[in-house]
Amino acid sequence: LKPPVRVAITGAAGQIGYSLIFRVASGEMLGPNQPVILHLIDLPFAMTALNGVVMEIQDCAFPLVQGIVATDNQQVGFKDVNYALLVGAKPRGPGMERGDLLKDNGKIFTETGKYINDHASRDIKVVVVGNPCNTNCLILANQIKDIPKENFTAMTRLDHNRAQHQLADKLGVHTSDIRKIAIFGNHSPTMVPYIDQMTAKNHKATVDQQWVTQTFIPTVQQRGAEIIKARKLSSAASAGNAAMNHITTWVNGTAEGDYTSMAIPSDGSYGVPKGLIFSFPVTVKNGKYSIVQGLPISPFYQGLLDKTIKELVDERIAVDHLLK
Ligand code: NAI
Repeated sequence: LKPPVRVAITGAAGQIGYSLIFRVASGEMLGPNQPVILHLIDLPFAMTALNGVVMEIQDCAFPLVQGIVATDNQQVGFKDVNYALLVGAKPRGPGMERGDLLKDNGKIFTETGKYINDHASRDIKVVVVGNPCNTNCLILANQIKDIPKENFTAMTRLDHNRAQHQLADKLGVHTSDIRKIAIFGNHSPTMVPYIDQMTAKNHKATVDQQWVTQTFIPTVQQRGAEIIKARKLSSAASAGNAAMNHITTWVNGTAEGDYTSMAIPSDGSYGVPKGLIFSFPVTVKNGKYSIVQGLPISPFYQGLLDKTIKELVDERIAVDHLLK
């Protein structure tokens, strides 16, 4: 066994936390040879519930769990942490404007950024799940002075996985047969599922454009809302699964000839303003991701890209006061 690593999960007493923590504890995220010390962070009011989660982890007798830190104190919570899955966020309440949501969460992620900068391990890898995740990550990364900015990412893997399922279903193949698709942009209804290079069973695969515009893209964009309608709760197990997938791929790499989707600081590729946290197709090798360059962007896709870029630029303007 390797020496243990510390994995922080915020919002640990919430829905996603409940599906995610046990899988991380079982070794599914970092592998069967990697012991973990779990850092479970939530707000003061949630500590009783979190204590219940801790008892359940103990009762699983996981061979890989070498310690549990359960706390509402971020200084303790992020101490020496190697991986952080930032799930905790303020949900959008009835009648709440997106701008208010950005501001409330802005405060949370400003604070978390300071604690991570001052207390986490210098090699920490962070994925922001709590919404609006791209801009939350932008605010967080802005607080970081002593850790490379590329270590701060946001999650669009759920959208990627959703797209993969829809395409596999349409083509009558298994999800794992679908390769070379990606999500560009914001984790929001403006996201852009890009499939012009898609392969199925290693052969170029196409689907008709009408299905893409009228069925596929709206289905992927609205899948979260569909699940809320059905479950009366937002997607949690699939979101937790995607957060784990994000980290696993970041650590282990992408398969040869494939790429994945991660929202990362833009370097200006594809005309995306520098610094925005933007989802790109990426390959990953030795724990480092790189944006897949030179994918052909049709006028159809350029129109969609322009919209999601504009939305993220507007979000950045709305939180400008937090980026000083
Ligand atoms: P939930 O409401 O069940 O749990 C959230 C937990 O976070 C609560 O226990 C709450 O006390 C805690 N929390 C809130 N602020 C916190 C803070 N500052 N520090 C630590 N903990 C804090 O919500 P659920 O269903 O688990 O979802 C969590 C977030 O994930 C939401 O923002 C949701 O929109 C987002 N999400 C993102 C997805 C993505 O694809 N990026 C997909 C699905 C959900």
